Amino acid sequence: PAGAQQWVPPHPRSIDELKSSAADCHGCELHRDATQTVFGRGAPDARIVFVGEQPGDIEDQRGLPFVGPAGRLLREAVDDAGIDPAELYITNAVKHFRFESRGSRRIHQTPGPAHITSCRPWLVAEFSLLKPELVVILGATAGKALLGPSFRVTRARGQLMPWPASAQHPEDFPVADIQALATIHPSAVLRADDREEAYRGLVDDLRIAARAVA
Ligand code: URA
Ligand code: SF4
Repeated sequence: PAGAQQWVPPHPRSIDELKSSAADCHGCELHRDATQTVFGRGAPDARIVFVGEQPGDIEDQRGLPFVGPAGRLLREAVDDAGIDPAELYITNAVKHFRFESRGSRRIHQTPGPAHITSCRPWLVAEFSLLKPELVVILGATAGKALLGPSFRVTRARGQLMPWPASAQHPEDFPVADIQALATIHPSAVLRADDREEAYRGLVDDLRIAARAVA
């Protein structure tokens, strides 16, 4: 398999059409062990698109993005930042769960550069339909997918950037110039030594996002 492109419909008319095509994607090996494709969801006219890493264990079972613990934390942070959840669309850079089996447990594994590249056509197709005003980049994997492999969250977080102008291959994304804002992934907040401080940092970044579309 050489990436998702051959599964992406050439002239998609809706997110639902993309989602049903993505259900059959064999663009990389991750479809083999995962339960199902987890596509993005939210308002088709969303002003803000959030991009995460990949579905987790619970998302893989339920078929919906950000419905596990990281999703609960993200919804709380969105609310605390004053962003209207009705204005959002939430998706992931990689649409199948990558994990390693240890006995009956499934341990999350970060997607690699090849998975990010293989899955990128879905993200490009989502953007071509959604045409949001702002993209919120949640963590390093989303940053690599949207900005390029040298992206580092710690250096870029909390600042509005022109996008796709700041991407490595801006021509890949058929959207008029919008803005991007990178922040920490909600799973990193859950793992942080000082969880409250990490949470406040996430909410502070999301307030910048809220003001950017106000
Ligand atoms: N983490 C992500 O990046 N995406 C999800 O959908 C769930 C957890
Ligand atoms: Fe296709 Fe992406 Fe799933 Fe790989 S991770 S099979 S490219 S949908």
